[in-house]
Amino acid sequence: MDILPEIEKRVSVRAYTDQPLEKQQIDRILEAARLAPSAKNRQAWRFIVVRNPDLRARLQVACFNQEHVGQAPVIIALCTTNVDYKMPNGQLSYPVDLGIAASFMMLQATHEGLASCAVTTFDETEVRVLLSVPYSMRVVMLLTVGYPNERLERAQRFPLSRMVSYDHW
Ligand SMILES: Cc1cc2nc3c(=O)[nH]c(=O)nc-3n(C[C@H](O)[C@H](O)[C@H](O)COP(=O)(O)O)c2cc1C
Repeated sequence: MDILPEIEKRVSVRAYTDQPLEKQQIDRILEAARLAPSAKNRQAWRFIVVRNPDLRARLQVACFNQEHVGQAPVIIALCTTNVDYKMPNGQLSYPVDLGIAASFMMLQATHEGLASCAVTTFDETEVRVLLSVPYSMRVVMLLTVGYPNERLERAQRFPLSRMVSYDHW
């Protein structure tokens, strides 16, 4: 399997059909996250899968009413189980760890013929209460997943020449 065509296929989708996902599809998306690398292999994360329509509707409100949040048959909340760990470079590991896990999940979703969208525009306190996330932990991202109900449109990217240099900045 060539990975670059799969990466090219992934775009953020903000309209979903109500077709439910198979349990095995969800399991494979979660497995992709489980296999993702993390700093010191700490795997300090928890993934909360939300399928309940009432809970999804409430999450939509907590996401400032982004419709695709309530519409997606599955929302996966990517949470920390440790908010303090810093890498030797002095930076917090959890945004990096969970960002990588999210990428793996999005690519597996694409591979399954599904669409997804990362969502960070939410009231974290509200999401925390809805999902019973302990006060000391953080909800880093919600990932909406489902079958697309819109034309997939590729967002523009800057050319490599604008972002890459060799040996020096
Ligand atoms: C960290 C992060 C946060 C994002 N938050 C939201 C969000 O709250 N709502 C949303 O609709 N899209 C959100 N997105 C999706 C981006 O808008 C999207 O990835 C970007 O415009 C590039 O488009 P593409 O994913 O189709 O390539 C987020 C993406 C990332 C990586």
